Amino acid sequence: MPLQHLAYISVAAPGIGQADIERILEQSRRNNASRDISGHLQCHGGLFFQILEGPGTALDELLARLGNDPRHADMRLLFREPLQRRQFADWSMGYGPCVAGDAGTHAAERLRRLRDTAPCGTQRALNLFLSLMTEADA
Ligand SMILES: Cc1cc2nc3c(=O)[nH]c(=O)nc-3n(C[C@H](O)[C@H](O)[C@H](O)COP(=O)(O)O)c2cc1C
Repeated sequence: MPLQHLAYISVAAPGIGQADIERILEQSRRNNASRDISGHLQCHGGLFFQILEGPGTALDELLARLGNDPRHADMRLLFREPLQRRQFADWSMGYGPCVAGDAGTHAAERLRRLRDTAPCGTQRALNLFLSLMTEADA
């Protein structure tokens, strides 16, 4: 089954906290490992930013579940396209950064700008995703 990857940005439901995120990660890791899905989740100032990689049918099924999940809303797909080689192969679901406060607000502004232009193109979305990861490491 050919691989695809996609990214979306969504708005976390009011009151979503660390315990909810832990639960999301636990569900994601369990399900994704058994469905050959890999990926990474970030959150910034109340926005989720997720990259998913895997067989197209598994991604379709996951998108349907995500679309019905009340823990977030207003999912905006940034790109979806065929993938040669996974970027997050080591992760059934990697996590972070997850930033609140001023830094989170600043990153969320960047996400909002990207989201407003969705579908924004693969490279632009990946560049922002990777640069937010790198900035958090710095
Ligand atoms: C931001 C966000 C990201 C999620 N990512 C995944 C994911 O990668 N894989 C997954 O199986 N579920 C993910 N979920 C949870 C699904 O929406 C759904 O609740 C879950 O797959 C149900 O699985 P279960 O019935 O096995 O508990 C995510 C939910 C949210 C809010």
